[in-house]
Amino acid sequence: MTDDNDGPVRLLVLGAGGRGGHAYAGWCLDNPDAARVTGIAEPDAQRRAEIGDAHAVEPQYRFTDWQAALAQPGPWDAVIVATPDRTHVDPTARALELGYDVMLEKPMASTPAELDRLVAVAKDRPGAVTVSHVMRYAPFYRALHRLLGEGHIGELQGIQHLERIGYWHFAHSYVRGNWHRSDQSSPMLLAKACHDLDMLRWLVDSPYVAVSSFGSLRHFRRENAPAGSTERCIDGCAVADTCPYNAERFYVEQLAEVQGPPVAIITNDLSPEGRRRALRETDYGRCVYRMDNDVVDHQTTSLRFANGVTASLVVSAFTRENSRTITVMGSHGEINGDAHAGRLEVVKFRDTRPNVTGVPGVERKPFDVVETGAGFVEEIGEVIGGHGGGDAGLMADFTARTRERRAGRTVEAAPTAFEESLESHWAAFAAERSRQNGTVEFL
Ligand SMILES: NC(=O)c1ccc[n+]([C@@H]2O[C@H](COP(=O)([O-])OP(=O)(O)OC[C@H]3O[C@@H](n4cnc5c(N)ncnc54)[C@H](O)[C@@H]3O)[C@@H](O)[C@H]2O)c1
Repeated sequence: MTDDNDGPVRLLVLGAGGRGGHAYAGWCLDNPDAARVTGIAEPDAQRRAEIGDAHAVEPQYRFTDWQAALAQPGPWDAVIVATPDRTHVDPTARALELGYDVMLEKPMASTPAELDRLVAVAKDRPGAVTVSHVMRYAPFYRALHRLLGEGHIGELQGIQHLERIGYWHFAHSYVRGNWHRSDQSSPMLLAKACHDLDMLRWLVDSPYVAVSSFGSLRHFRRENAPAGSTERCIDGCAVADTCPYNAERFYVEQLAEVQGPPVAIITNDLSPEGRRRALRETDYGRCVYRMDNDVVDHQTTSLRFANGVTASLVVSAFTRENSRTITVMGSHGEINGDAHAGRLEVVKFRDTRPNVTGVPGVERKPFDVVETGAGFVEEIGEVIGGHGGGDAGLMADFTARTRERRAGRTVEAAPTAFEESLESHWAAFAAERSRQNGTVEFL
């Protein structure tokens, strides 16, 4: 769609928020030879101006919404859909109709019916939609996948995966923020852990067959509001000093130096006064016990795959870290991973002394420690929420494929193509049905 097949690929970014404006457009600024943003659609005037100026987007290609941007073809080779959850299906369908390839933020759709609608549209353009399952591009998970394939731990039997959302992140996004109501965004598991469901499916290399799930909104409820707490943290709340969810302490004091997300999500004016104004005027200043949130704050899901492997996925608000840990159990060994530390430890049973109480000198002997994700993140100058290098890996891959297609060459579908990503979403919907109805769901 351009005469200049050798130049950077040209992107239209729909939704210039944390993902579109910061993570993906930001990557283009760091990689000007690979991609540049030539169009944006964003209703927030200040964001539109800031991102538009940062990328020198011509005024006629700065739109107030995705509909205007996709009213007709424009000077771009592909489209990034980074609008809110409930606004994914229509712009993707329209971009496909216009012939563009799309990088679509997860979740692809928020309900089974919407996903069915997208399936019907996408079937005519196989491989044209790449889903932003960034974990598959993160060096940490790539190394884990490779190690499993190399057979170090024998035959895979099971996986235990813990997603620590982090108390502050949960309060920001799932109590006060964009994902606090499932009818306005998505169920928590889909919103937060469809990545994890996709990653588990990728590691196990076998389809999901059954799911059961438990979880509830247990803590962030009105009946748990401490005596003397107020509607807003800055209203003279009696427990402001002891409450870990005090918004003023978090956004104004602890994150005083932070200029990007999560502060940039609550206000465009990052001065202390601007932040305090946001705490007075937006949900981000409201008491976490007095919101209208309904998404679960902890959820445990059991998963069975067609090859008999099982996995458990625990997703919880109640952790200090905002990270993930995983134990992969095989017939001859195990792999223990800490994504935040960027560390994978491979243990072969035959190389360890049996860990029996009373045996002198028993110690676990790691035989291999592999590459860290953190180093890669440092190298690429990752922004907050860079998913251990996954955002950058995804952008590099998507833009490289787009460049090839633009040049008329045949390109394989991305590892996180729409078709490949579907199972994670169907599993998330099944888990939500199980959680609500107390059933075991078969896929
Ligand atoms: N891949 C990941 O790991 C990951 C991480 C976080 C969020 N997400 C997903 O990315 C999407 C965007 O999340 P975010 O954190 O950037 O949210 P955000 O609120 O920061 O950004 C969304 C932007 O879309 C804009 N918008 C709203 N309606 C629009 C319209 N009609 N046309 C164009 N723009 C419109 C909003 O004004 C906002 O600036 C969500 O679906 C979210 O679930 C994915």
